[in-house]
Amino acid sequence: MTTISITPNTSPKQQEQQQQQEQQTSNTTPTKRNSIVEKEIFFRVKDRVKKAKFKGTCIEDLKQLFLLKFPEFPKDVEHPFYIVEKGTGKEALICNIEDIQEYQEILVRHEYEQDTRQKSQGYTGLDKEKIVLVMVGLPARGKTYVARKICRMLNWMLVPAKVFNVGEYRRLRIGAGQPHDFFDPYNPEGIKARLHMAVAALDDMISWLHNGGRVGIYDATNSTNERRQLVEKRCQREKMNVIFVESICNDLDVVEANIKETKLLSPDYQGVDSNKAVQDFRERIAHYMKVYETVEGETTRYIKLYDVGKKIEVNNITGYIPSRVVFFLMNLHIHPRPIWLTRHGESEFNAQERIGGDSDLTERGDTYAHQLAVWISEWASKVRADGYDGEVVVWTSSLKRAIRTAQYISQPKVVMRALDEIDAGICDGMTYQEIQEKMPDERAARESDKLQYRYPRGESYEDVIQRLEPLLLELERTKLPVLIVSHQATLRCLYSYLHGKVKEECPFLNIPLHTLIQLTPKAYGCEETTFKLC
Ligand code: F6P
Repeated sequence: MTTISITPNTSPKQQEQQQQQEQQTSNTTPTKRNSIVEKEIFFRVKDRVKKAKFKGTCIEDLKQLFLLKFPEFPKDVEHPFYIVEKGTGKEALICNIEDIQEYQEILVRHEYEQDTRQKSQGYTGLDKEKIVLVMVGLPARGKTYVARKICRMLNWMLVPAKVFNVGEYRRLRIGAGQPHDFFDPYNPEGIKARLHMAVAALDDMISWLHNGGRVGIYDATNSTNERRQLVEKRCQREKMNVIFVESICNDLDVVEANIKETKLLSPDYQGVDSNKAVQDFRERIAHYMKVYETVEGETTRYIKLYDVGKKIEVNNITGYIPSRVVFFLMNLHIHPRPIWLTRHGESEFNAQERIGGDSDLTERGDTYAHQLAVWISEWASKVRADGYDGEVVVWTSSLKRAIRTAQYISQPKVVMRALDEIDAGICDGMTYQEIQEKMPDERAARESDKLQYRYPRGESYEDVIQRLEPLLLELERTKLPVLIVSHQATLRCLYSYLHGKVKEECPFLNIPLHTLIQLTPKAYGCEETTFKLC
C-alpha cells in the first residue's frame, strides 16, 4: 500500500501554490507543523459520512476522534484510515497524519465489516453431489416415518431435501381406496398403473434435484431388484448417487401398531370400518411379501434398519451428508415422551429491552422459576401415580438467567453452552432502538435476511442451527421427557426442527416469555400444548 498526500478539492495548480506556501511556512517556522491546525474533515464508513474537526498530531488522535463520532464501533480493534483521491477514487492508507488536508474525506475500512460482516452459509459438505435416498421395505415398516424424519433433519441442517411419495401420486392420479388386489404383483393392470406412478414421481424428483435440490428421498416400497435397478439406472444417468435405505421389521407387534396408528388414518381407508381396513392392509402386505427381495450387493450403497433402529447395517457409505443420515438414524426411536421448551424467566436485560448479556432474573422472572418448578413436580407426581418413574432430563444454557430459571427444579440439570442465546457480537447489550440509531446498516442488513445475517463478531440464526445439531441428536436419542430452558433464538431453532418449519420461518417464530411449550413427537409431527405460567 502506498502512502500519498492528496488535496482532493483543489486543482493541480492550486496544489502547487499550496505546497509552496507550506514550504515557506515550514522554512520559517519549522516546529509549527500544519497537523496541529484545526481542520474540518469527513469520516466515511460505507455510505455514512460524518463531519469532524481534527486537531490531532498522530493516528491515535484520529482514531479517538473517529470513535467519538462513531461510538458504536469497537474500541479494541484497528481502524485503518484511508485517503480517497477525488476523481480517480484511488485509496491510500494514511501512515502520516500530515497527509490529512482541510475538508479531507477519510475512508474507514472497519475490520469487522471486512471480516465478519458476511452472511452465514450452512455447511453441507465439500462435495456437492446430488443424493437420492431410495426407501425400501414392505408396507407398514415405517418407511414414510423415516423418510420424513430424514428430510426434516436435512432441511433443518440447511440441506435442500424433499420426499417424493409414490403413494401420494397414486392417490392423486387414480384415487385413494384401491382394494388390496390392486397391489397383487400378478395383477397386470395394477402393475402397469403402479409403474406409471413410480416413474412420474421419479421424473419429478430428478427435475427437482436438477433445479437446486440436494437430497431427493424416493418413498415407495421398491421391494424388488427389478424396480430398484430401474430407479438406480435412471439416477446414474442423471449423475446422482443412490443410497438404499431399507427398513426391516420382523417385530409383528410393531407392524400391527403401525397399521393401527397410521394406516387407518390414511386417505386409503377413509370411511372404511377399521376391522375391514386392517384386514385389507394385511392382505396388501401379503401381496408384497410374495415378491420381496432384500437389498444386497458388495458395491451397493445401503443402510439397513432393523426393528426401528435396534440394529443398523451400513454398506459403502461415505461422505458428509450420508454419514449424517446414518448418525441420525442410529439415534432414532419411537418412544412417545414430551419435550418442554421454555425461555428463561424475565431477565434484567429483558426489562430494559436490551439484547444478549448475562443478566440475572427480575422478580417476575424469579416467580416464573418457582412456578416452573412446581409445574414439573406436579407433572412428575401425576405420572408416578400412573406407574411411571417421573424422571425428567433438564437442560439449560450456560447463561445465568437460564440456570436461575431451572434452579428450583429438583431434577438433575445439565448445563449446555450450545443452548446459549444467539451471540449478538458488537450489538450485545444494546436495545433494538440503539442499534437502529447507531448502526442503521446493521439493522437494515438483518431485516433483509434475518436467517443468514451474522452480527459483526457474533452469530446468525444459521450459525445457531449448526451449533445445535449435536444437541438435537441427543434430543432424538433420549427416551425420557426433556425440559429445555433456553432463549428466544435457540428455542426458535429447536421448535422449527420439531415442527418441521421451513427455515425462513425460523427467526420469526413466536416463543413468548413465561410460557411452557409442550411438544409430543408423534409418527408424522408433534402435538403441541402451551401453558402460561405467570
Ligand atoms: O430480546 C431477548 C433475546 O433473547 C435477545 O437476547 C436476543 O438477541 C433476541 O431475543 C433474539 O431475537 P431476535 O433474533 O428476534 O432479535
